[in-house]
Amino acid sequence: MRRVVVTGLGAVTPLAVGVRHTWKRLLDSQCGVVSLLDRSSHFADLPSQVAACVPTGTVDSGGWNAKEWLDPGDERRMALFSQYSIAAATEALRDAGWSPSSHLELERTGVCLGSGIGSLDDAYNMSVAYSTGGHKKVSPLFVPRLLINLAAGHITIKYGFRGPNHAASTACTTGAHAIGDAGRFIQFGDADVMVAGGAEACIHPLAIAGFARAKSLATAWNDQPHLSSRPFDRDRAGFVMGEGSGVMVLEELEHAKRRGARIYAELKGYGLSADAHHITAPPTDGSGALLSMRRALQNAGIAPERVDYVNAHATSTPQGDAAENRAIKTLFDGARRPAEINVSSTKGAVGHLLGAAGSVEALFTVLAVHENILPPTLNLENPGDPPEEFDCNYVPKTPQQHGVEAAISNSFGFGGTNASLCFAKLEYSGGMGRVR
Ligand SMILES: *[C@@H]1O[C@H](CO)[C@@H](O)[C@H](O)[C@H]1NC(C)=O
Ligand SMILES: *[C@@H]1O[C@H](CO)[C@@H](O)[C@H](O)[C@H]1NC(C)=O
Ligand SMILES: *[C@@H]1O[C@H](CO)[C@@H](O)[C@H](O)[C@H]1NC(C)=O
Repeated sequence: MRRVVVTGLGAVTPLAVGVRHTWKRLLDSQCGVVSLLDRSSHFADLPSQVAACVPTGTVDSGGWNAKEWLDPGDERRMALFSQYSIAAATEALRDAGWSPSSHLELERTGVCLGSGIGSLDDAYNMSVAYSTGGHKKVSPLFVPRLLINLAAGHITIKYGFRGPNHAASTACTTGAHAIGDAGRFIQFGDADVMVAGGAEACIHPLAIAGFARAKSLATAWNDQPHLSSRPFDRDRAGFVMGEGSGVMVLEELEHAKRRGARIYAELKGYGLSADAHHITAPPTDGSGALLSMRRALQNAGIAPERVDYVNAHATSTPQGDAAENRAIKTLFDGARRPAEINVSSTKGAVGHLLGAAGSVEALFTVLAVHENILPPTLNLENPGDPPEEFDCNYVPKTPQQHGVEAAISNSFGFGGTNASLCFAKLEYSGGMGRVR
């Protein structure tokens, strides 16, 4: 069986541009959620006026400046989600030290990167332009900017990669599916190296309006934005929309070893499942839950009692966090006392990056494994409700140092689509344990 390892990481997040800055700020318990009123008056009438926005500035200071990442003309050709993904992919490839030039290497390198929503900004502007001015007002770049798979397409064009060129679009599970599918491509022999992840940039009044109408967003902290995203907290009341991109370079183990690449972790397991229940809500009883986590662990050959950390999907919605909490406790049932279950949601710091969430959080999970640190859940004052249900260790407010041999990253999306990724140290030798 071909094994898959992580050899490069790249990130554009509401905490910072770049993995180093993002990770440092995450461990410093900083928060990327800001008021949208400073951005544009168009948000003033909306029930939710907060979002987790990528900070602007120079890359040295962890800020976003498109010109530092793009070739001339690319800003016009690429929608913002594609621009973020180019930056994250560029960082990940540099980090991996992978810059192939031979035909064979280029043909053995692919891209699998998606988005949940794509460029709502373009869809909106062009709808208005068409409706007021007719077809001649529609930009010839409209379609290539709009299409979700163009982020992956642009990366292949920029780097000349001629392996698989694929894009997942499964709402908030996109980033996890992209990484998991890319891992399978490598295992199956379609490629030796894959650039994989997700990107999202749809902080737009129309998107806020839509999610607010679906009653998904936090609306009670417009004056104190950094308190709005509070996974597992009693007072949580909806998610906070975020933007950015997370990308990792996945590589076949022997290929990585031959070129002496640094290996962060092994992608050991991938599990997918469907709720078959409701378009936006998870089943509340949690029964039949955790299929995706169980499948990921079965795929990894790792027993639940060997999992040291779960990076939860927990978006800070009352129902979603409760269902996931129950599912996690069921997964560990009998194998671990709740207080020993280490689970956190990094969405308190970065909000919910929708199609990029799974990949950014997978990246945090990889770093937790690599550095033996559990990243914190911000704003967790009172776990609940009720408190006796929420009795795991949620790593409240500040990080905790703890050996992490194996970890899970969860992603759940509208439509009832669930995926879990399992990462472990390369030298992981915890054995199978009792696989249930
Ligand atoms: C859409 O229109 C707004 C308002 O004119 C403008 O600020 C924005 O840059 C446009 N977005 C795109 C992608 O063209
Ligand atoms: C999907 O995730 C939700 C948590 O949001 C959980 O309640 C549900 O049982 C999961 N479904 C499956 C099939 O794993
Ligand atoms: C959870 O983390 C704490 C340290 O933060 C550690 O003492 C404990 O052993 C961990 N539990 C497990 C099961 O790894």
